[in-house]
Order: sequence, then C-alpha cells, then structure tokens
Amino acid sequence: MDTGLRNRVAIVAASSKGIGRSTALALAAEGAHLALCARSPEALIEVAEEARSVHGVEVYTETLDVSEDNRVRQFCESVRSRFVRVDVCVTNAGGPPAKPFSETTIAEWDRAYQLNLRSIVSFAQGVLPSMQRQRWGRLITITSMTVRQPVPELVLSNAVRAGVLGLVRSLATQYGPDNITINNVGPGYTATDRVKELAETRARETGQQAGEYEASLAKDIPLRRLATPEEVADAIVWLASERAAYVTGQTILVDGGVYRGL
Ligand SMILES: NC(=O)c1ccc[n+]([C@@H]2O[C@H](COP(=O)([O-])OP(=O)(O)OC[C@H]3O[C@@H](n4cnc5c(N)ncnc54)[C@H](OP(=O)(O)O)[C@@H]3O)[C@@H](O)[C@H]2O)c1
Repeated sequence: MDTGLRNRVAIVAASSKGIGRSTALALAAEGAHLALCARSPEALIEVAEEARSVHGVEVYTETLDVSEDNRVRQFCESVRSRFVRVDVCVTNAGGPPAKPFSETTIAEWDRAYQLNLRSIVSFAQGVLPSMQRQRWGRLITITSMTVRQPVPELVLSNAVRAGVLGLVRSLATQYGPDNITINNVGPGYTATDRVKELAETRARETGQQAGEYEASLAKDIPLRRLATPEEVADAIVWLASERAAYVTGQTILVDGGVYRGL
C-alpha cells in the first residue's frame, strides 16, 4: 500500500515514549520527515537518532510541555521555518491522574483541560492556517477508548477527552473544504512503559506478579491481549496517509474490541 507519506512533514507531539514514539517511527518508516517534542530530552534524542539512522529522514526535536500554549505555537513556527511546511500533526500528551470524582481538585481539572484539550487547540491553531494555504493536511488526536466507554476512576480523562471529540467534529466540518482531514484515535489498553509501571505497582500492592495484572486486564478484552504501541501507530499512519483521504471527523478505537456499542 502506498501511503503517499514520503517527504511529507509530520509533527508528533509527546513522542519520546509509548504510542507517540511508535507513531513517529512508523511515519518515518513511510519516509515522512519528523518534528518531535516531549518534556525531557534523553529519550527524545534516541527516537530522533533511530528515525535518522534506520529510515534516513530528517528530524527536528524540541523539549517542551504541550500544555504551554506559547511554546507549542513557537514549536509549530520553528518546524515551518525548518521544513517550509507541516503536512501532518499528531497531538498527544500524558494522561490526567486516575482518581474518583470526589478526590479530584479544581487544580487537577484545570491541568487536565490544559494538558488534554487546550494543548490540541494550541497545535490546531499552530498548524491549520498553513495547511489551509497548501490545501492539504492531516490533524490526528490521540485520546482513549474512554471517549466511547468512560471508566469510573478516569473521570478527568472521560470529561476532558469528550471535549476533544466535539473539537474534532467541529474542525472536520470547518476545514474539510480546505482538503484537511481531522480524526481521533482512541487506544485501548496498550503495552507501553506507563501500563507496565502500573502493572508493577498493582503487583506490589496485591502481591501478584506484574504479568498477572496484565492477564487480568486481558481477560475482558475480546482479543485477549493488550495492544502494542505499534498497532495504535498503524491506525494513525493510515489516517495520515493518502489512503484515508475521504475519512474525516471520525474516532477510530484501537481497543481489541473492548467497546461493545454499535
Ligand atoms: N497506554 C495505554 O494503555 C493508553 C490507553 C488509553 C489512552 N492512553 C493515552 O495515550 C496517551 C499516550 O500514552 P502512552 O501510554 O503512550 O504514554 P507513555 O508511554 O507514558 O508516554 C508518554 C509520552 O508523552 C510525553 N509527555 C507526557 N506529558 C507531556 C507533556 N505535558 N508535554 C510533552 N510531552 C509529554 C512523555 O515524555 P516526557 O515525560 O519526557 O514529557 C512520553 O514521551 C496518553 O494520553 C494516555 O493517557 C494510553
């Protein structure tokens, strides 16, 4: 399948680890040049070096927190100065803390909004005007399967990420005439470092082996296993590609069938 991504320029936010990292490397494998960011430099530099050495693409990196609006805008501007254009923008960030509603504070609500909704607005405002001028663009948000099936102790994520769907749907309508598609990917349980750490913590608390915790998650997943970050990245690459040119305003869950709705 020719994805048509060779020599495209792709921003992948929060891309030093996990799903963001796999997405960056999968886009590089298709020949896209990369602009990557995360808060700490070490792992980010490793991803950039891997993309350059294995896939021969150009990579720009910056350390920043995606919840800082001015830094995100400057980053988008720097990417344009470096590569002249931005074709693909994949938004991503860490998730808000998992806790029941009664334990959440207003400061945590403000932070969740800044991290998981407002950061997408910053990227969208940073890239959409130039995508409009070039009459080609892909904006892809990474959220969670909880946008379809909320999980009780993830109330911050459930509420704020529902807003992302409203934003994606609104922007898809507004920017469709400019040949820009805007879609959302909702991962299910994915075997990233974050989930492995959670498994180790739960294992320590309960006396289980870490593998047992992952197995307990897997038993409620129709495909009976966690996703790999590469499997989530594959869906993102498809949405970024020419092959998905007529798909916009959609949420694609990569959740092994967890969401049972029609
Ligand atoms: N893994 C799952 O099972 C799963 C399921 C559903 C949804 N999700 C969601 O998918 C997203 C990615 O998850 P993941 O499992 O890939 O996470 P991960 O393995 O912990 O990686 C998170 C990445 O984001 C970067 N990052 C975090 N906060 C950032 C910030 N404020 N500004 C810039 N970069 C930031 C991290 O680097 P630095 O720490 O250096 O900044 C790292 O590169 C999260 O929003 C998560 O909630 C994950």
